[in-house]
This record gives sequence, C-alpha cells and structure tokens, in this order.
Amino acid sequence: MKIDVSHAKKIIQRYRKKKGILIPLLQDIQAIYGYVPEETVGLISKELSIYPVDIYGVTTFYTQFHLMPQGKHTIKVCQGTACHVMGGKGILNCISDKLGIKDGETTEDGRFSLERVACLGCCGMAPVVVVDEDFHGNCNFQKIDYLLNQYKSKKEES
Ligand code: FES
Repeated sequence: MKIDVSHAKKIIQRYRKKKGILIPLLQDIQAIYGYVPEETVGLISKELSIYPVDIYGVTTFYTQFHLMPQGKHTIKVCQGTACHVMGGKGILNCISDKLGIKDGETTEDGRFSLERVACLGCCGMAPVVVVDEDFHGNCNFQKIDYLLNQYKSKKEES
C-alpha cells in the first residue's frame, strides 16, 4: 500500500539544518503514520543526507519505533527477570496462541499487535502485560482471556 508522503515532507522541512534531530524527527513521523514507513526513510535519507542504514540503526535499536503498521491495540508482554520467573513466557505464549500471531506481528484484522518487552519497571506486579497505555499486573491465563475479550468488545463498540 502506497502512503501519502506529503506529511513527512513537511515534518522533514521543519528539521532541516538542525543537529541531533533524527530521534525527534522519527517520533514525529511515527506520530503521523503510526509507524515509520519505508518511503519516509528514503525521504529522510535524501533530504537530510543521512544514510538509510543509520536511520534503520535508530529505528531498530529503540523499541518505541515500529517499521510496520501496528494494530489498533498494542499488547506488550514483559519478559524481564521478575516476570519471567512469575510465568511471563507462558503469558506471552498464551496470547500468541489465542491471537495466532508471534512477537512483532499484527493480527490480520488489524486489531492487535504483540510485542515482548524488557522490564517495565513494575516488577512487584509480575507478570505484567500492557495493552495500549493500561498496565495489567499479576496476569494469569484467565485474566488474559478476560482482557482480550474486553479489548475485542472495545473494537466492536467503536
Ligand atoms: S520484570 Fe516485568 S516489570 Fe520488571
């Protein structure tokens, strides 16, 4: 699917001739498109004389950036030490099985994206799952069923 790069062009113009702009520029691009489209990487490279490999180096290093369109809801499953000890891997596998997607993928209907993440800083609530901006602690398989149904219902309401 082709994207409209006119928004990206305007954003890039704002950052022209400034230093240390790559991360805020990519954040602005992602805020518009929901991810950093390949076409915008080409534009940034051409307009600001930054090698594509350097742009991809940033987008792949920082977990905040996505190179593919994301689902309506993003589910992050913590795999930090405390969550791992408390069954975080089982929670990730459970969600993966229920949605039919793996880490980094989005369901075909565009409803959910799944990500494994490092410590979210609330280890006392392990295992932790974050859906969009909402933290859910002490997760178990029943809670996951409840959560997924809740977010599926939200989709149907909107
Ligand atoms: S290890 Fe999961 S929140 Fe810290």
